[in-house]
Amino acid sequence: MVKKNACIFISGNGTNLRSIILKSREYNFPANVRLVVSNRKKALGLNYAKKWSIPIFILKKNPISEIILLKTLKEKKIDIVILAGYMKILSKKFIRAFDKSIINIHPSLLPKYRGLNTFARVLRANEKKTGCTVHYVNEKLDEGKIILRKFFFIKKNDTINSLKTKTHNLEYRAYSEAIYKTLRGL
Ligand code: GAR
Repeated sequence: MVKKNACIFISGNGTNLRSIILKSREYNFPANVRLVVSNRKKALGLNYAKKWSIPIFILKKNPISEIILLKTLKEKKIDIVILAGYMKILSKKFIRAFDKSIINIHPSLLPKYRGLNTFARVLRANEKKTGCTVHYVNEKLDEGKIILRKFFFIKKNDTINSLKTKTHNLEYRAYSEAIYKTLRGL
């Protein structure tokens, strides 16, 4: 199978990055991770890129850095940008200039709980279930077309931390399924 070239954007721990890299080593997974982008040069997740010798690009705040990144994505023939815990909003210019798919994972059942602090808000609202959503990125925050959602039921003794752990575990499965679905057109 000819695999597509993926670029993963991170800002923090990069456990979704780790899971996608591991998945990409499987024969029938439709993508290889060719580049990791971070807006923070100290992001812990960059260690996974180093471990598997994947090139790293640090995206700085200035517009020139973004132009260089777009050029790099072209040179590396990147077919898909995957946001995995990327905590900055992509510029409209970037979204318009990159003419392939950009997808994101969000720790709630969108359209509910866009933005930050999802777990605290879910608990406060006494929701019965929560989960994660993979969606296409457009110019509005957490609003692009939904690719898939996965959920679990909330237990009485759940806390912000337990919801975070459960959501993360669900995200690893959701992201690999969504990438498969996006790239194989399933
Ligand atoms: C994930 O839970 C992801 O859904 C969330 O950041 C976490 C990153 O974890 N993303 C957002 O909140 C984006 N709005 P990781 O760095 O361990 O993959």
